[in-house]
Amino acid sequence: MIKNIFILNGPNLNMLGKREADIYGSSTLADIKDICEEQAKTHGITIDFKQSNSEGQMVDWIQDAKDNFDAIIINPAAYTHTSIAIHDALRTTNLPIIEVHLSNIYKREEFRHKSYVSPVANGVICGLGTSGYKMAISALAEQNN
Ligand code: DQA
Repeated sequence: MIKNIFILNGPNLNMLGKREADIYGSSTLADIKDICEEQAKTHGITIDFKQSNSEGQMVDWIQDAKDNFDAIIINPAAYTHTSIAIHDALRTTNLPIIEVHLSNIYKREEFRHKSYVSPVANGVICGLGTSGYKMAISALAEQNN
């Protein structure tokens, strides 16, 4: 049963709204948090929504998630393309994992085409903006049916 989801956002996502709005849209991270809380509520699910610019902090939180959450939704931002540490931490949780990106990383620079997270994710949503977070919550909630 998925009752409590950890939603983790990586580096520079705290700058959403001010950062490359043509690519990431005008929503701030606080807006995305509200969207997620609303979506989770419709499914009777609770969330913890966090952001860090630090890879080590993200690894620490992923390790803690193992005992405190039923699933993880992660937008690892730039660490998607570089972090074996986040890959290793995620695979150790044995939780359902959905990777989300606001932009379509496959339509962008070649260095964004490689994800270290996708091989340990149950699903990947990219290019659909903030809807991707809502879809990820709904997909996890459907596992309860
Ligand atoms: C991102 C895509 C990444 O390539 C980039 O480094 C980000 C955001 C996205 O949500 O589209 O910071 O994860």
